[in-house]
Order: sequence, then C-alpha cells, then structure tokens
Amino acid sequence: MALLLRNSERRYGTVAIILHWLIAIAIALQLWLGFFMEQLAEGSFARFEALQRHKSVGLTILILSVVRLVWRLIHSAPRADPGLRPIERRLAGLVHFGLYFLIIAVPLAGWATVSASPLGLPIQLYGVIGWPHLPFFGAVADGQAMEDLMHAIHKGLVFALIALAVIHILAALRHQFLLKNAVLGRMIPWLGGAAKPDKSE
Ligand code: HEM
Ligand code: HEM
Repeated sequence: MALLLRNSERRYGTVAIILHWLIAIAIALQLWLGFFMEQLAEGSFARFEALQRHKSVGLTILILSVVRLVWRLIHSAPRADPGLRPIERRLAGLVHFGLYFLIIAVPLAGWATVSASPLGLPIQLYGVIGWPHLPFFGAVADGQAMEDLMHAIHKGLVFALIALAVIHILAALRHQFLLKNAVLGRMIPWLGGAAKPDKSE
C-alpha cells in the first residue's frame, strides 16, 4: 500500500485519514467526558478537573478540525464511489458538510460558554499552555445569561453531532456489510478495495 499523503481519485490520502480517525476518537472520548462530567456533584473538585480536561480535549478537536477543513478545501476529495446512486451522493455530501460544520461549531460554542462565564477562569490547555477567552462573550452586561445561552447552544449542537455521526456510521457499515462495496476502504485503506493503487497514485 503506497503512502499517499494527498487524496487520490479513488481514496483519501494519509493526512485526511489520520485527521478523520484522530478527530473521531477524540469526539468519542469528549462525549463520554462531557456526559460523565454532568453526573459529578456541582462545585466538586472532580467536576472542576473533568471540565479542565474537557476544555483541553475540546480545543484540541477545534484545532485539528480547522486544519482538516483547510486541508479539505485545498485538496479535492476522491471521486464518489461509482456504484452510488445520485441521491446517495447528495445525502453523503450533506451529512459530510454537516459534520464539518459541527466539529467546528460544537467546540466554538463550548469555548463561548467558558468565555462568557462571570467566574472568568483562565483556560490552560492540559494545565500548561495558556489559551485566551473569546472576545465579546466576556464583555456582555449579563454574563450569566450569555453563559446559559451558549451552554444551551453547545448542548443542542452536541445532540445534532451525535445524530449525524450515527447516520454517518450506519451508512459506512451498510456499505461495508450489506452492499459490500469499497466505500469504507476509502477511509481504511488496508481493508482493500479502494486501496489498490491507480493511475493517480
Ligand atoms: C467536539 C468537541 C466537544 C464535545 C463533543 C463536547 C461535548 C459536551 C457534552 C456531551 C457536554 C455535557 C452536556 C452539556 O451539558 O452540554 C458538554 C458540556 C460542556 N462543555 Fe463541551 N464539548 C466539546 C467541546 C468543548 C469545548 C472546546 C469547551 C470549552 C473550551 C467545552 C465546554 C463545555 C462546558 C463549559 C460544558 C458544561 C459543563 C458543566 O455543565 O459543568 N466543550 N460538552
Ligand atoms: C464523530 C465521528 C466522525 C466524524 C465527525 C466523521 C466525519 C467525516 C467527514 C466530515 C467525512 C468527509 C470527508 C471528506 O470528504 O473530506 C467523513 C468520511 C468518511 N467517514 Fe467519517 N466521521 C466520523 C466517524 C466515522 C466512523 C466511526 C466511520 C466508520 C464506521 C466513518 C467512516 C467514514 C468513511 C468510510 C468516509 C468516506 C466516505 C466517502 O468517501 O464516501 N466515519 N467522515
């Protein structure tokens, strides 16, 4: 299997694949951390610590997602699998667009929540690197109302992300196990199928 940094006509390249799976794993971890954090006693040290970790992982997801979006905008995606019907192509495109939007909007809304908080706690990535608050959110007259609004938006977007991710994962599994085509092989090349070298590699 050739090490292909950029996307070829038939499959995603190593950069897109590594970013896809890093972000997918980090989001799974982050969802678990977010819902686990909500179970801890309000005001406890354990909840405070979990939130600091949640902020660090979430901002890492934001950085990786921006890098990924820029990479996607400057390199064309592989051609759609030739076996897909036009409606399937359009639906996949819509879901992918929604996922790109949400992997940036969800952490941005979380960052806005923290930035609006009247407590004004500084953000420290992994306890070592200082990270700024978003401007504007901390300067509004009623910081508590803004924090509550941003938290509600963060939560709403999290549920939208879960819904789209479930559709996306079910679609990938349908292609792999029911339709038995090469779609999953475009993101996991060692599965074979789309990974075979072609003229563009
Ligand atoms: C893709 C990235 C992220 C995901 C999937 C995610 C997910 C979640 C989940 C599941 C919750 C619990 C439900 C809720 O109360 O909303 C939550 C809460 C929260 N998240 Fe995130 N989050 C992400 C990024 C961030 C970032 C970057 C920040 C801040 C820098 C952040 C700050 C918060 C805060 C302040 C809460 C409420 C905590 C509390 O109620 O004590 N999140 N998040
Ligand atoms: C929250 C987790 C995930 C997110 C946010 C996500 C996001 C995305 C996005 C935005 C694309 C479009 C890539 C592009 O054109 O640049 C994509 C492609 C893809 N994803 Fe995911 N993904 C996630 C999890 C998964 C999982 C768990 C699987 C496998 C079960 C998977 C399988 C695929 C496949 C096969 C493609 C290529 C589809 C094609 O070329 O038609 N993804 N993903």
